[in-house]
Amino acid sequence: MKTGTMVVSGAGRGLGRAVAEHFAQGGWRVIAGARDPGELPRGEGVLAAELDVLDPQSVAALATAVGMAPVDVLVNVAGVFDGPGATLDDVRREEMMEAFAVNALGPLELARALLPALRQGRGSLILNVSGLMGSIGLNKDGGNYAYRASKAALNAISRSLALDLADEGIGVVALHPGWLDTDMGRSWRDPHDQHDMVSVADVARDIQRLLEDPATDREGRLIDRHGTVLPW
Ligand SMILES: NC(=O)c1ccc[n+]([C@@H]2O[C@H](COP(=O)([O-])OP(=O)(O)OC[C@H]3O[C@@H](n4cnc5c(N)ncnc54)[C@H](OP(=O)(O)O)[C@@H]3O)[C@@H](O)[C@H]2O)c1
Repeated sequence: MKTGTMVVSGAGRGLGRAVAEHFAQGGWRVIAGARDPGELPRGEGVLAAELDVLDPQSVAALATAVGMAPVDVLVNVAGVFDGPGATLDDVRREEMMEAFAVNALGPLELARALLPALRQGRGSLILNVSGLMGSIGLNKDGGNYAYRASKAALNAISRSLALDLADEGIGVVALHPGWLDTDMGRSWRDPHDQHDMVSVADVARDIQRLLEDPATDREGRLIDRHGTVLPW
């Protein structure tokens, strides 16, 4: 496996934890962030960091700790979901704002804070974990206003970041990881959904393949875990 330094948010559980473990086991230096560092995986290659993406001071503290040390890949995984089948009646201003703050602003602020370190990396990449539900083109069910709108905003942010950072050789990916076998994924029980859940270990391997594949879109488009570009 190609190695380097990676920063992962939301690394205490779910996909973020699996990504941190997979790359640390593959020889990467992984700076793993979680609100409760006690939840982070331990072991060679993992540097535990306290990180709450809702707290600008926490983001700034992580960036200060990293300093100018090169970061090759930032994986923005931390995310919140408004629950399965959240309806128009369920829309709450605070929940909308929190979803925006975690799912859209969080990745943007972390990427901007880590730019000095990403500029030192080799072929650096910002990988924002988005989701199919952020696609306006693929929205056939409605509902989930907070989650859908915040992930659509993350898709827009990913594209702007890609355009703004292209001259510096920093690529951006907005990834739909699939329906995950995690706390968030298991809360979604759709009897009509024929697709199987995917394990986070498999998605971590897919992310490795995407990082290593020169054909992977780095221009901020929404792609699935096999690298296929999806409609915004
Ligand atoms: N699950 C799916 O089927 C699915 C599908 C498409 C996209 N996604 C996206 O994939 C990503 C990972 O999802 P998952 O299924 O692994 O979710 P999960 O099991 O619910 O884990 C969510 C992670 O986000 C962290 N987080 C939430 N708010 C945070 C904050 N303010 N600061 C820092 N970390 C915060 C959580 O930390 P705590 O432990 O501290 O709460 C946890 O580590 C998310 O962005 C999600 O939207 C998931």
